[in-house]
Amino acid sequence: MTIKPLIILPDPLLRQLSKPVERVDADIRRLADDMLETMYDAPGIGLAAIQIGVPRRMLVIDVSKEGEEKKPLVFINPEIVSSSDERSVYEEGCLSIPDYYAEVERPAAVSVKYLDRDGKEQTVEADGLLATCLQHEIDHLNGVLFIDHISRLKREMVIKKFTKAAKAKVL
Ligand code: NI
Repeated sequence: MTIKPLIILPDPLLRQLSKPVERVDADIRRLADDMLETMYDAPGIGLAAIQIGVPRRMLVIDVSKEGEEKKPLVFINPEIVSSSDERSVYEEGCLSIPDYYAEVERPAAVSVKYLDRDGKEQTVEADGLLATCLQHEIDHLNGVLFIDHISRLKREMVIKKFTKAAKAKVL
């Protein structure tokens, strides 16, 4: 397992549409392990493959609480099949937008179809933090970031700040 460098805003890779995984094989399982290692190291509770530069429809999540046993989840080709009318608000952050947090409103519960790390089709009925996290990560697969769900003014401020920081790093 290898910790991979994270792709940070405003890298255009984050806006790329990820392609479906065609076959769940050893390479894909290795990618899942690297993603989990990178996520735990950060530390974070979710990571999409594109965040380490791999444009594949794949994400990892662990929403277990601190001190609890780790519960790594791997979702391959995840697809939201239904969402609740009820909505909930969570303060979200993103490993690709470090140290920035904002409240985002999303459906409170979702049903997600996916392949597990054995390539077996599964469906999860998620609510609470897992539902929010799944929606946040699935957004990544479509080039969407959580800052796309906040006001334009706030979004532009964040992008400006990160663009400046990226330029400063290059110089
Ligand atoms: Ni994110």
